[in-house]
Amino acid sequence: MNTQTPVSWTNRWTFILAATGSAVGLGNIWKFPYITGEYGGGAFVLVYLGCILLVGVPVMVAEVMAGRAARANPVDAMLGLSRDAGAPAAWGFVGLAGVVGGLLILMFYSVVAGWALDYVWQSLTGTYQAQSADSISENFASLTGSFPRQWLWQTLFVALTGGIIAAGVTRGIGRAVEILMPLLFVFLLMLLGYSWLNGDFVRGLEFMYQPDFGKLSREAVLVAMGHAFFTLSLGMGAIMAYGAYMPGEHSVGKTVITIAALDTVIALVAGMAIFPLVFANGLEPSSGPGLMFVSLPIAFANMPGGMIFGSLFFILVSIAALSSSISLIEPGVAWLERHGVKRRWGTFGAAVIGWLGGTACIYSGSFFDLLDHITANYILPLGGLLIAIFVGWIMQRQTVETAAGFENPLYFKLWTTALRYIAPVGILLVFLHSIGLLDTFMQLGA
Ligand code: PHE
Repeated sequence: MNTQTPVSWTNRWTFILAATGSAVGLGNIWKFPYITGEYGGGAFVLVYLGCILLVGVPVMVAEVMAGRAARANPVDAMLGLSRDAGAPAAWGFVGLAGVVGGLLILMFYSVVAGWALDYVWQSLTGTYQAQSADSISENFASLTGSFPRQWLWQTLFVALTGGIIAAGVTRGIGRAVEILMPLLFVFLLMLLGYSWLNGDFVRGLEFMYQPDFGKLSREAVLVAMGHAFFTLSLGMGAIMAYGAYMPGEHSVGKTVITIAALDTVIALVAGMAIFPLVFANGLEPSSGPGLMFVSLPIAFANMPGGMIFGSLFFILVSIAALSSSISLIEPGVAWLERHGVKRRWGTFGAAVIGWLGGTACIYSGSFFDLLDHITANYILPLGGLLIAIFVGWIMQRQTVETAAGFENPLYFKLWTTALRYIAPVGILLVFLHSIGLLDTFMQLGA
């Protein structure tokens, strides 16, 4: 396959599907509910939504626009655009850092996707059928306590990811996304209905939507912002890589709003399905990464047809994870390919690194946590910060304006303001706040 001169995807819809496939994944269904539980609910959700709107959306427009303007993988895109703007080639490091960040994310992401695969098996074999909430919790603990079981599924998941990338059918995945993502959404809505009828729905909604700012720790704000980047696949070039294929005549702004809205709604629905079950079954909202893997099987164990429904649900979650994981290594593979490394070998190298790192994550829970923490809370927001500065301040305004293709000058103005001021200042403030420096400054000023 030749990616020297990427051909445009025939329509805007194809780009939306691929980008949605990247954005919607474990971040929405697994991570969002469990961090919402861990960081106290309502206030956390509110900060997260604010970050999506004020920082995520503008940065996403910047990434799509940069990819489309350069028509290249993120490393060469940043290099080419900085050359055009007369800026130092060092900007290429932003693309390179993204490639590394993608590999680091793949390491722990593939472990969690492996859990989802294990749950397909558990559902098919009826492991959790007619079991008590306690023993369903124990099922999860025994999975995370078993090295070989996790290793088997993680290996399978990385192999599937590599297989899709090596075959060069990343764009073909759009087809799967087109059918399976709406289906996943329908399943989530049915789960929501189940929770409404059988869970503690009012308490679940109160938990998610009644902000108690007393519960909002420093770290919570950092995690909310980090998750806005993670869930929208921002700050590491995935969306930039896909933007390279977006046809020229469409408005980036509208497209991005569509994707961000879909992503957010899916996360919120997942949360609203999970928390009522958590409260009705005496689980702890702050119980951590197992939240979804315990609460949803409790529902599947008790509903008619739960074995089939549960199996299909976890298959859909695994596919959502797959359409995200391919976007974690595609930028790196595309970059290597452009510089003469065969697609097959580039993929093999990336997959082996991801697989070894994933093995280390299974071996050590603290390595897992460390990778999750530094990628989502530091690498991605930092990447996003640099992209915002690059597009907002370094690239020529005329180039940006043409490439972004806003129909309405007012929207263009709003976007550049968000990109030049709100996003960079917001990200920096959150960083300073998280290490307590912001308070120190305020005290000094007072
Ligand atoms: N957005 C994906 C999810 O929510 C994860 C991801 C992050 C994918 C960064 C690509 C890049 O599951």
